Amino acid sequence: MGEEIKYEKTYPLGYEPEKAPTTADPNIRNQLIDFILKSGPSEVIDTDLFAVMAKRRSTRKFSDKPVQTTKIDKIIAAADTAPTAGNYQGFEIFYIKSPEKKKLLVDACNKQPYVDAPVVLVFCKNPSRVKFDFSENILKKFAIQDATLAAGYSQLAAQALGLSSIWIGMFDEEKIMEIIGTDLIPSSVLCIGYPKQTKFPKPRRNLKDLVHVIW
Ligand SMILES: Cc1cc2nc3c(=O)[nH]c(=O)nc-3n(C[C@H](O)[C@H](O)[C@H](O)COP(=O)(O)O)c2cc1C
Repeated sequence: MGEEIKYEKTYPLGYEPEKAPTTADPNIRNQLIDFILKSGPSEVIDTDLFAVMAKRRSTRKFSDKPVQTTKIDKIIAAADTAPTAGNYQGFEIFYIKSPEKKKLLVDACNKQPYVDAPVVLVFCKNPSRVKFDFSENILKKFAIQDATLAAGYSQLAAQALGLSSIWIGMFDEEKIMEIIGTDLIPSSVLCIGYPKQTKFPKPRRNLKDLVHVIW
């Protein structure tokens, strides 16, 4: 048997996944994401993607029940699986742990009280990661799409884990940037937790109004 290679830990200060591989397998790409996404059971409620989509409903009232680290790990790993322009990953996630900063974020988000949620993730655009030789405008467009899509993946992952969320788009960019200490522009704030009450999904318009068939 060959010598086991130790898995190199590459976590940010203050955030360490609950479970991580101990040995490195050169045959597995993105080993940490793969490990986190496949590790279970951690109370996964729904693994049927379409059922998760059909049931998702925004929540603005969260219970005080804390969210397990294994679930936060999966929510973050899910964001990391999203496609990005050129795979340059033109976005960053700010995981807000400080209760004081969450309160400041409420104010930065037009005083929306539910921003003070059990888990708060700020998705920011980072066009400087997008190394295409295109105009600044295009790179910014890619970065906003990258950040938005990643947040969408996290939102679905939260639902699959029996959690609920609210997507916040109404905020003062400058205020958020000051609170979290970055020069990157936020694209969304995703607030996650256990819902106080489970609600039915909201209605949508008819398909005939949504889909425009071009012959
Ligand atoms: C781009 C965007 C911005 C949003 N901004 C806010 C917001 O600032 N505050 C809020 O309470 N909800 C916000 N929402 C949540 C929407 O109100 C919610 O998704 C919508 O009513 C549909 O309900 P559903 O998510 O339960 O399907 C936002 C959603 C999106 C996609």
